[in-house]
Amino acid sequence: MAEFIDGKAAAAEVVEKVKTETVALTEEGITPGLAVVIVGDDPASQVYVASKSKRAKECGFHSVQHTLPAETAETELLALVKALNADPAIHGILVQLPLPDHIDSARVIQTIAPEKDVDGFHFINVGKLGTGTLDSAFVPCTPAGAMLLLKRVRGTDLSGLNAVVIGRSNIVGKPMANLLLAANATVTIAHSRTKDLPAVARSADILVAAVGRPQMVRGDWVKEGATVIDVGINRIPAPEKGEGKTRLVGDVAFDEAEKIAGAITPVPGGVGPMTIAMLMANTLVSACRANGRVPPSL
Ligand code: GUN
Repeated sequence: MAEFIDGKAAAAEVVEKVKTETVALTEEGITPGLAVVIVGDDPASQVYVASKSKRAKECGFHSVQHTLPAETAETELLALVKALNADPAIHGILVQLPLPDHIDSARVIQTIAPEKDVDGFHFINVGKLGTGTLDSAFVPCTPAGAMLLLKRVRGTDLSGLNAVVIGRSNIVGKPMANLLLAANATVTIAHSRTKDLPAVARSADILVAAVGRPQMVRGDWVKEGATVIDVGINRIPAPEKGEGKTRLVGDVAFDEAEKIAGAITPVPGGVGPMTIAMLMANTLVSACRANGRVPPSL
């Protein structure tokens, strides 16, 4: 049976450290500030954004949320982003995605000042991560959280280990691959066009699933003793819980994989809780950098 990697506990530890550091910073007159922007009324996005704002308040941050109607013009959103860029009380800016179709998301993201881009989506931060310039980069929160969980199990140096990332998104797959490379792993990025995906997955000492397909990675895709990091969060019908009920599952068939893996993240309670925790960490780091302080290691 695999060791369960407890993301809830790890996320709580990160948040505790952020709170402690925030108390110290605030005593020096610096309060980390996070602005979260949401456009439209997508219910899932509303829930995510509310929990980001709430957690920021719990951390002792200056937390502001801008909720704009779905018909907001792109120029108006760009003007808000520019105003937040210029606001010294704001250290982190997050524009919740997806944006309505009439808004060019790329233009909005690239308008965020790179030093306030706590999502790590700006080309400057993507480039810094790609070149291993991690000291001054912002790393996207979900892969940063996944990496923190992985390091708990495997340590910080992954030399000699084969890592396979399934999924090539800009938000998870690609940054995850770069983080693994920066930690000296031998990295393969696999995706929907990969030939014999199960065989590629079986070569992995570290298997990261980030495809958004419920339970796609079966037990026989997992190498004996591998560390499995499941980034997927998928809602599927759960008739066993009653009519119309649903439950959350990952991209990995957990019941099968846990029998073979050495360690595995559960869903829920694995990578999921880490995302918001890392957003808090990135905002704190940004406030430190903006004030010439060395950020704490989290
Ligand atoms: N929508 C879903 N995940 C994310 C995220 O990590 N950042 C932003 N900005 N939007 C998202």
